[in-house]
Amino acid sequence: MSTRKIFSCNTIATRDRSYFDIRCLFRSIRHAALVLWIFRRPPGALRSLRSARLYPVADGLRRTLNLDYDLKMIFRQLFDQVSSTYSYLLASRSGGEALIIDPVLEKVDRYLQLVRELDLKLVKAVDTHLHADHITGLGALRDHTHCITVMGEQTKADVVSMRLSDGDKLTIEGLVLDAIYTPGHTDDSYSFILPDRVFTGDTLLIRGTGRTDFQNGDARQQYDSIFNRLLKLPESTLVYPAHDYKGDTVSTIGEEKAFNPRLQVKSVEEYVALMNNLKLANPKMMDIAVPANIKVGLAQEKIALRGWAFAASSALALLGKPDIALIDLRERSERERHGTIPGSLHVPYPALQENISEGGMLSELAKSTSKRLLFYCAFGERSAMAVQAAQDAGLASACHIEGGLDAWEKAGGPLAR
Ligand SMILES: [Fe+2]
Repeated sequence: MSTRKIFSCNTIATRDRSYFDIRCLFRSIRHAALVLWIFRRPPGALRSLRSARLYPVADGLRRTLNLDYDLKMIFRQLFDQVSSTYSYLLASRSGGEALIIDPVLEKVDRYLQLVRELDLKLVKAVDTHLHADHITGLGALRDHTHCITVMGEQTKADVVSMRLSDGDKLTIEGLVLDAIYTPGHTDDSYSFILPDRVFTGDTLLIRGTGRTDFQNGDARQQYDSIFNRLLKLPESTLVYPAHDYKGDTVSTIGEEKAFNPRLQVKSVEEYVALMNNLKLANPKMMDIAVPANIKVGLAQEKIALRGWAFAASSALALLGKPDIALIDLRERSERERHGTIPGSLHVPYPALQENISEGGMLSELAKSTSKRLLFYCAFGERSAMAVQAAQDAGLASACHIEGGLDAWEKAGGPLAR
């Protein structure tokens, strides 16, 4: 019997059966290996499969089954005893990119040590809101690691590298957190969601909620943030707050729904009355922490003093000049949301180093064409760090637009969308 005519493993002669059993076995092994391979890829790698149309299916399955967060994710809950603050270090793998949520200034050395010990590269430092009870570690971490500082777009902080809006994604290699605007404790409060957990800042605490009596807090908004957003998450979602004063470390949405005394109210009015009668003393550090946390931006003047900066109004005159290469350092989501300066190249900030190193695209561009590299980003912070890095790499023509796209727009600069 010709093996070509056989379609079922069950109807073949003994000699052919063994041949087909082996083929079936190999096929099964191949399929099992493919499934395993798909599930064990970090989501960042999976995105590269987009063109193969495997990504949506595989990523959906992974998210449904919570596989990402059990396999390899590095997760550390770190505590500052003085302010009872929890900070969270996350990465998808050893040797990969990491982000930290709500770092405390006094603990920065400890974070840096841990990042080294775990062989991580800190790329983003995030505050859930402008803190009143401790000084943020954002600025110090940026100065040590050149990471991107991130807060919500409503923040009063002078400069952060990236400002998120409700619904934005907070991404690093292999991890995507959904940013949701949850005002009430302050008017710049955000929560960050992974499929199995949520980082609630001071919006929702374990058996408590963040006070709403300063920094434009609003009990009515907080009720909405908690009841209509956070409590809509699956009950099994783990709750990781920015503080705990009793020693609790984690809770779940279901637990908080059932046992959080502040949430056992029948109406928004009852919640507002409860919050407006707490009569709490101000945090001890408030008068020091709030002004310090507002002034967290990188001092861009140093770059300007070296002649490596253009004010946005001066940069306008450079648009379209053949000896200028405009380089946009922002992420794709920022470009899509806010537009780009016409004619600019896209080199995301995390890819800067490989591009300015010997043989890299920007290095070659600067050397082979004598073009001036004119970096820009959202607010001038990433571009200021990029100029310094490029100068350090020997690219003497590197400069940036001070104040970034924000200043460019205010100066009436054109945008492509
Ligand atoms: Fe707070």
